[in-house]
Amino acid sequence: MGRILITRPILGHAGEELERAGHTVETWPGPAAPTADDLQTALAGCDGAITMVADRIDASLLAACPRLRVVANMAVGFDNFDLAAGEAAGVWMTNTPGVLAETTADLAFALLMSAARRVAESDRDTRAGGWKNWSPTAFLGVDVHGATLGIIGLGEIGQAMARRGRGFGMRILYCGRAPKPEAEAALDARFVPLEALLRGSDFVSVHVPLTPETRQMIGAQEFGLMKRSGIFVNTARGQIVDQAALVAALTSGRILAAGLDVTEPEPLPADSPLLRLANVTITPHIGSASAATRTKMAAMAAANILAVLGGGEPVNPLNRPRHPR
Ligand code: DGY
Repeated sequence: MGRILITRPILGHAGEELERAGHTVETWPGPAAPTADDLQTALAGCDGAITMVADRIDASLLAACPRLRVVANMAVGFDNFDLAAGEAAGVWMTNTPGVLAETTADLAFALLMSAARRVAESDRDTRAGGWKNWSPTAFLGVDVHGATLGIIGLGEIGQAMARRGRGFGMRILYCGRAPKPEAEAALDARFVPLEALLRGSDFVSVHVPLTPETRQMIGAQEFGLMKRSGIFVNTARGQIVDQAALVAALTSGRILAAGLDVTEPEPLPADSPLLRLANVTITPHIGSASAATRTKMAAMAAANILAVLGGGEPVNPLNRPRHPR
């Protein structure tokens, strides 16, 4: 039977299920996240791990953890994994697809609404004593209904975002590697090049994974193509955006506002210029953070560990080691 580390306290009965199968489970106590060194030390004698997006799993960690057979990310994104290193070391790596798209799109739409109608900004002002009287010109925002929503990446989460936009009577544009005729028909969405999407959208929402192709794909040039009244939403990964260019676009009025669930780095340092901008709503990478969805993600991660330590293949493999440990 194996030893398993869960790198943060999680919801649900995933830990108990692993224990019922005879495994020994340790949970990193927190509240601080393990550093790279902590992780390496804690995983040194482990057979399996449930990890989070902030835990980097690479060749040097895998070399220092010779018993490790499976690493199950409690996330759909896996840019924190070196899949090739896992494959070479004989370690299965898994993720949690199919359970968090709707929840993440809920938050993306909440950020879109907050930025458009200045919800977080006016809340901060109200708490600071700024509400002196009713004014017909206070906190004027922009309309969401009837506007054009540009979706970068019409995958599962992008499609869930498009459905929310359709519910608000929005026109949907999208871009990506290739058109998706079925989704396009179902959502009444139009495939356009990125440039046309940026020019034509009132709201631009990012839903692509972080890969070498998408890293820094939105920068000064792209913000320069957006409408001055445009609003930018990112619930994917901070590294997809040139953050200095985003700050410049928000400061200069090149775009109107932004809603961000992801930044670079995470968490943002206290002196980050983003934290001083009134026209940004920032949440701390909580896209999938509903109790129901996080419980499903934990259960899925545990199922992947159980399958591998039980001698089989994982349910949601990201790699395929030729010689599993
Ligand atoms: C994911 O699943 O990739 C999210 O970013 C973490 O909840």
